[in-house]
Amino acid sequence: MAARLSQRVAGVRDLTRRFGDRVVLDGLDLDIEGGEFIALLGRSGSGKSTLLRALAGLDRDVEGRLEVTGSVAVAFQEPRLVPWKRVGSNITLGLAVPDAGERARRALAEVGLTERAGAWPLTLSGGEAQRASLARALVREPELLLLDEPFSALDALTRITVHQLVVQLWTVHRPAVLLVTHDVDEALLLASRVLVLDGGRIAYEAAVTAARPRHRDHPELVSLRTRLLTVLGVTGDADDVRTA
Ligand SMILES: Nc1ncnc2c1ncn2[C@@H]1O[C@H](COP(=O)(O)OP(=O)(O)OP(=O)(O)O)[C@@H](O)[C@H]1O
Ligand SMILES: [Mg+2]
Repeated sequence: MAARLSQRVAGVRDLTRRFGDRVVLDGLDLDIEGGEFIALLGRSGSGKSTLLRALAGLDRDVEGRLEVTGSVAVAFQEPRLVPWKRVGSNITLGLAVPDAGERARRALAEVGLTERAGAWPLTLSGGEAQRASLARALVREPELLLLDEPFSALDALTRITVHQLVVQLWTVHRPAVLLVTHDVDEALLLASRVLVLDGGRIAYEAAVTAARPRHRDHPELVSLRTRLLTVLGVTGDADDVRTA
């Protein structure tokens, strides 16, 4: 597991994605190192989900070089659980390993959902469904975990709990994480590197070195927040840190 830490899990060179005449990704370069936690910010429509889909291998119509070594798992904004399968079966859906059941039990325990393994997805709360989605991603033991705004539908308190859970899971399993978010504070609290996608490329990047758990008043975070809001072109009330 430790060997992964310094190895690159994804390398993207000159990645371009067009939809008709529109160039959404325009010669984008990005390296993702094993075990690093990246947050990806950018205005709505800037191409964040397009980049994630490309990294997940869900979009074959990209130009440029895209190398992803190792296993990838994705969790989306909406948990996308299959409603006619119980939570436990959702976790192992499509997972072809002999110990799938045991892995699912462990993953559900890690996200605090042991009791809900036999429940139907529609009976879960939003936070429970999102945790089930995380368990489904974790059970694949990914080296690269792609998270596309997984917390945006959660209420403020549940978000805090799930943030803590994600940091805890990341600390234990150490996948590289690429988290798409609109929330500058979320990016600063969680990530070791924050990227801004603009004009089809990584237009800005900053390292975040403060020790976790972080507080939003930490001086490093305060100064980075101001810079990121400027880069994102957000003006007005500085407490409103969502970019879209
Ligand atoms: N299949 C598609 N066909 C045509 N246009 C598309 C397609 N998928 C994405 N786009 C366009 O590409 C642009 C980038 O979309 P994308 O979903 O990557 O944005 P995003 O940064 O994730 O935005 P948001 O923050 O709102 O989720 C948008 O203008 C979108 O309309
Ligand atoms: Mg998106």
